[in-house]
Amino acid sequence: MLELYSLSAGYDSSSVVRDLSLTVAAGEVVALLGANGAGKTTTLRAISGLARVNSGSVRLDGVDLAGMSPTARARLGIVHVPEDRGLFFGLTVAEHLRLGGATDEVQQAALDRFPALRGLRERRAGLLSGGEQQMLAIARALTHEPKLLLLDELSLGLAPVIVERLLPVVREFADRHGTAVLMVEQHVHLALEIADRGYVLAHGDLALSDSAAALRGNSDLLTASYLGEHAAHL
Ligand SMILES: Nc1ncnc2c1ncn2[C@@H]1O[C@H](COP(=O)(O)OP(=O)(O)OP(=O)(O)O)[C@@H](O)[C@H]1O
Ligand SMILES: [Mg+2]
Repeated sequence: MLELYSLSAGYDSSSVVRDLSLTVAAGEVVALLGANGAGKTTTLRAISGLARVNSGSVRLDGVDLAGMSPTARARLGIVHVPEDRGLFFGLTVAEHLRLGGATDEVQQAALDRFPALRGLRERRAGLLSGGEQQMLAIARALTHEPKLLLLDELSLGLAPVIVERLLPVVREFADRHGTAVLMVEQHVHLALEIADRGYVLAHGDLALSDSAAALRGNSDLLTASYLGEHAAHL
């Protein structure tokens, strides 16, 4: 579904992510990991058309997205939930779910995944708690029925117990709808419990990629690549 081939991307001609090759298949959940500033958000932004691609390519279903606007990419089925969640504080929960023009059935299905939002339908997003806002951001993304879902730090500011409840919803959605999910997550071990595979970036370079099970089983290597020390240890 998604293929990055030797992608170098950033905000000007100097790339903050370099030579990254990565794939996400339909129905697959892939974790994008790495320390602060490693280039995770930039990678997601390059895919959704918000960062500059200096070389290499981004393909969705075999189609090269070079030169395509973020809106055109959204029309192809790429939905990006950014770090700041991208909610409109003055709009209610129900209004957010209606925004993309989803049918009632699709809106209800999104709410079914987050029962806590049901009683909050008429509440403005600005008055929701952090966890409720995060649920709304995901629920809204699901109403777009994405082919490719990009999630940037779903768990920002949330208690691990809440993250433990949100991540399986993502897994189940990917399984049921065949959505490809690329997920940036700081709760590494929680992410690797639901992911199929993971990639670790260090200072903009790919340090490690493997199945989630292998990454879970090799904490030392994972920690070393997190710290950008992988190459130095070889
Ligand atoms: N708009 C921007 N213009 C210029 N440089 C930027 C911009 N946004 C990010 N950067 C730089 O790009 C590098 C990678 O940042 P990025 O946000 O991709 O990291 P990250 O892995 O998402 O980190 P975090 O875990 O802190 O969110 C950093 O050095 C950052 O300072
Ligand atoms: Mg980031």
